Amino acid sequence: MFRIAIDGPSGAGKSTIARRLASRLGIDYIDTGAMYRAVGYKMLKNGIALDDRDGVRQLLDHTEIDFSDGKILLDGQDVSSLIRTPEISAQASACSALGDVRVKLVELQRNMGSKKSVVMDGRDIGTNVFPDAEYKFFITADAEERAKRRYLELKESGQKVELAQILTDIRKRDHDDSTRAINPLRKAEDAIEVDTTHMSIEEVTEFICREMNR
Ligand code: DC
Repeated sequence: MFRIAIDGPSGAGKSTIARRLASRLGIDYIDTGAMYRAVGYKMLKNGIALDDRDGVRQLLDHTEIDFSDGKILLDGQDVSSLIRTPEISAQASACSALGDVRVKLVELQRNMGSKKSVVMDGRDIGTNVFPDAEYKFFITADAEERAKRRYLELKESGQKVELAQILTDIRKRDHDDSTRAINPLRKAEDAIEVDTTHMSIEEVTEFICREMNR
């Protein structure tokens, strides 16, 4: 049994790479960002404010999150596409700074990775969720390149978006995610850093597989 931790800022290509690795190795992929997105989505839907601590706790106590066939299930409902909007990106980043939210999701993540081999991507997997993961990678890319990738992705899914706005959003999220008090985005000391600005998905996947076989 082994765990592969993949961390890095938004839009660096973590999830695509993690999904490829998982299918190549025949193990599960767990997208922890989707879990924060699902909680953010439910808070918005239920009108729970970020500073409503009791409301957030209540909501967390009555929330089930699971993965099935690459889809994320929130209380049994597939919310995979509902959570991929700029509004939910901002809400996920905001609610991921709440201690109660992190405690609940980190516990779930540790459970998911304790029974079988997994590839898990996020911001704090190598530093906090699985500090003892067998393999750790920190995937980055220039903010402009990440904004371009996110722009193409959202456009392809039919959303009306502007590149300049996405770049602004990405910079804000980078700042918020890496300066929050609890488990901020940070490269684990023993993680291998991969700058993917000028690399294709195939090149990054190959690089990681080679590093794992060393
Ligand atoms: O990877 P993503 O863009 O789907 O993540 C959404 C938000 O969730 C991101 O702004 C930061 C937060 N997040 C986190 O704090 N810890 C994780 N392990 C994964 C995501």
